[in-house]
Amino acid sequence: MLLPLMLWGQEDFISHYEYGEMLYANPRGVSCSQCHGKNGEGQMIVEYRDIQGKQVLRGSDIRRDSLAVMINAVNSYHEVMPRYYLTDEEVEAIYDYIKIKNQEYLLSFD
Ligand code: HEC
Repeated sequence: MLLPLMLWGQEDFISHYEYGEMLYANPRGVSCSQCHGKNGEGQMIVEYRDIQGKQVLRGSDIRRDSLAVMINAVNSYHEVMPRYYLTDEEVEAIYDYIKIKNQEYLLSFD
């Protein structure tokens, strides 16, 4: 518990971007990247068969989501995605990390 607090106060040692990168990979729970991909582009979680045939469960593309959507998603219960206990500042760091990481992709929508 002490480590993240220390990191937060020490912008010199770890940048906001690195902090977001760290939280995206290790958000005190299952890594976001396991379902939303390395950069938030989304990826396959599991493939299975039921009576309708082959099914694919995917984590969504979150690269274009707003900060409000992200805070809401992280703080609520879903069928697949776990609920996290991250502060708004922590979610914002993840949000900023994804925006910076996908700068070029996001520019193509302007
Ligand atoms: C076990 C897989 C899994 C993990 C881990 C996970 N998600 Fe999700 N997430 C999903 C799925 C699937 C959805 C689609 C909605 C649902 O849950 O049915 C979703 C929805 C979302 C959404 C809502 C908007 C959208 O475009 O679908 C956001 C934002 C989001 N996740 C961000 C995150 C962040 C940030 C983390 C890490 C703190 C995370 N997720 C971890 C599977 C996951």
